[in-house]
This record gives sequence, C-alpha cells and structure tokens, in this order.
Amino acid sequence: MTFNRRSFLAAAAGTGAAMAFGRPAMAPAVTGARPVGAPPAGSRVLMPHRRVIGRGEAAMEVSAIGLGCMGMSFLRGTHPGREACVALIRHAMEQGVTLFDTAEAYGPFENEEIVGEALRPFHGEIPLTTKIGFVYKDGQYAGESSDPKVLRAALENALRRFHTDCMDLVYIHRRDFSRPIEEVAETMLGFRREGKLRHWGLSEVSGGTLRRAHAVFPVTALQSEYSLTWREPETNGVLAACEALGVGFVPFGPVAKGFLGGFVNECTIYVDTPVDNRKNFPRYTPENIRKALPLLAALEEFGKARGVTVPQLALAWCLAKAPWIVPIPGTCRLAHLEEDLRAASVALSAEEVAALDALTVAHPVVGDRYPPSEDARVDREP
Ligand SMILES: NC(=O)c1ccc[n+]([C@@H]2O[C@H](COP(=O)([O-])OP(=O)(O)OC[C@H]3O[C@@H](n4cnc5c(N)ncnc54)[C@H](OP(=O)(O)O)[C@@H]3O)[C@@H](O)[C@H]2O)c1
Repeated sequence: MTFNRRSFLAAAAGTGAAMAFGRPAMAPAVTGARPVGAPPAGSRVLMPHRRVIGRGEAAMEVSAIGLGCMGMSFLRGTHPGREACVALIRHAMEQGVTLFDTAEAYGPFENEEIVGEALRPFHGEIPLTTKIGFVYKDGQYAGESSDPKVLRAALENALRRFHTDCMDLVYIHRRDFSRPIEEVAETMLGFRREGKLRHWGLSEVSGGTLRRAHAVFPVTALQSEYSLTWREPETNGVLAACEALGVGFVPFGPVAKGFLGGFVNECTIYVDTPVDNRKNFPRYTPENIRKALPLLAALEEFGKARGVTVPQLALAWCLAKAPWIVPIPGTCRLAHLEEDLRAASVALSAEEVAALDALTVAHPVVGDRYPPSEDARVDREP
C-alpha cells in the first residue's frame, strides 16, 4: 500500500475526474442514477466516479462512494491502530475516494485526529469534513448542544486537528431540541462568513427540519441510516425533502453495520472494550439476526446471478436510488474497502432495483433500529 502525493495525483488524473470540491464539477461528474457510469477511458482506480451533493452555492463534488472512518477508533470493536488507519485512508484516496466521514464524537476526538493526519498532505485536493454538536464531560459524551459557543469550540478544535483554517463540510451530528434549527443555521452561516467552513450538513433530522434549516443557509448534505435493511427515509419525507431542495443524501450503515457482509450473525459476540454499540441495537439481538437471515440468503442468490457480493449489491442499490446519494460504508479492512469501492461500477437496472426492493418486503428485518434512549435523539419534527 505505497502512497505518496504524486502517485495519488497521477492516479486521479488518470480518471479524468475533476478534483474541485467547493463547487460543482466542471466535468465529467457522473451524476446519472442508472447506470452509475462506466469509468472514464484509461481509468486506473477503483473509484473514478463522482457525484455532486448540494445545489448552487451549496454544491460540492465528491466520490460516488465515501469511506466511513468511525469504526477505526469507535463503536465497531476491533481497531487496527492509528498507523494502519492512516494507511487505509490514504489507500482509499489513491483509489479515488474523496469523502471521508468522521466526527468529533468518534473517540471522542481521536477519530478526527486520525483522519486529519491522513489528509494533511492533501489539503486543497480532498474535502475536509466532520460532525459536531455534543458536549463532553471527562472525555465522555454528555448530550447534544448547538449552543453557538459549543459549536465554535468544536469547529476550532476540528480546524486544529485537520491542520486547516477552513473545513469544507461540517454536519450538526444530532438535533439540539432546545434550540430552533433556524438559530443553528444562523450560527453555521456566521462561521461561513468568518471563512471557517464552506458547507454544512445535518444528521438524523426530519424533512421538516431540513426545509427550515435550508431556508436560512442552504444545506449540502443530510446524513441518516439507509440500506436494504432500513428504508425509512423513503417514507418519512427525508429523501423527498432532499430531492425537492437539492440536498445530497449520505447514507450511513449502508451494509447494515456489517450484517450484509455476512460477518455478523446470531453467534456474534460484540466486544465491550472498546464498546461495539451493535449489541445495544434491537435488530442485532441473536433472535432478530436469525429472523433477518432469509433476506441475506435471498440477496446472496441475487448477487450470485449478477456476479457481485451482497455488500456491493447493497451499495449499488443506494447509488441507483438517486444521483445525489453518496453512501459511506465503514471498514478497517483493505479487502472490504476495495470490494465496497467496486460497487460504484455495478449498474443496476430499474427492474433490478425494484426486485431488490421486493426482497426487502418479502423478507422483513425485525427489531427497532435504536434502543429507546438513542431513538429519542432522532428528529421527527414535522
Ligand atoms: N451520522 C451518524 O449519526 C452516523 C451513525 C453511524 C455511522 N456513521 C458513519 O457511517 C459510517 C458507516 O456506518 P456503520 O459503520 O454504522 O455501518 P456500515 O458501513 O453499514 O457497516 C460497517 C461494518 O461493515 C463491515 N463491512 C464493510 N464493508 C464490508 C464488506 N465488503 N464485507 C464485509 N463486511 C463489511 C465493516 O467491518 P470491517 O471493518 O471488518 O470491514 C464494519 O464493521 C461510519 O463509519 C460513520 O462514519 C454516521
């Protein structure tokens, strides 16, 4: 996994992909929903495809699939160590990935440091993104806060960890229900006017909240869970609001937190130290995982006929749903990363997407997404 700036730029140039990200791509952004688009002639990387999230001044060009970095130091059990994670992120860049998802809360703080270190030599070439909006006590999460002072401190810390004076995209990680979203949008707009951030996003908010926020400061991306095992954004107004406003949608959990990769089953023992939060999720109890196995088997059959793995099917399905959707699968493994990135070259037809939708209905996944304490943090305001 050798990597240096020159090899990265050479690889990217080979794709013909524009590296601009503060504005829509000049060309040749791949924005068609189906197929995702064949790699440009002469492409030598796994991820030559680009998409645009956000519209107008909020538009930002990113790779069609990003990399979720949370599990490198938080909530996913085994962490391979800082050096290996930096190398994995740089390998993803070498393969054309330009969207790396992290958050102040992951660690907390440590994950931003890992991603910041990995991206440091590539400022101006790779967008810098993070999520903020919590307070901490003794280094532990202590609740949501979009108090302007809290957001400012978190943003300043992110700027320091990313070794920059301007972040490209900063999401509010969870809604602070004590404050109107318009006030939060004003705060973020103020940071933009100060030159400390270019774009902003929201996570786990309703379509109504998105509309109100967008009216104050156009939103670039909304992040929420979306996968073949969790399709609620299709019916709760979130995807409809994104489409109407031109806001990009960034699904997390696109391989169902590992379940669709076949590495999580009813015998899986989630580690306590560091904490793996899947053990708290009702859908991942042994009995509910057992009930979900028929869906996995059906998807495996479908994938075999198509010559793709289930994670690739899951990611290609996300991409086929709309040209402004950019999934961020998380992985700490090179083989999984490369498998996931190849999904951008899998073009599903409308009939195939409909067939996959039908499989999710025929084999429903059982159990709530979150335990009640975490579910209460999801915004459902009309
Ligand atoms: N906004 C939010 O509130 C929020 C919430 C959760 C997550 N996120 C972001 O979204 C990212 C992804 O979410 P997630 O980790 O919850 O779910 P995910 O991407 O669906 O699943 C990640 C898990 O799947 C496994 N995996 C990935 N590709 C695989 C493959 N090809 N084959 C087999 N297993 C595979 C990974 O294990 P290996 O490491 O073994 O590959 C990892 O444990 C996170 O990293 C984070 O950045 C955001």
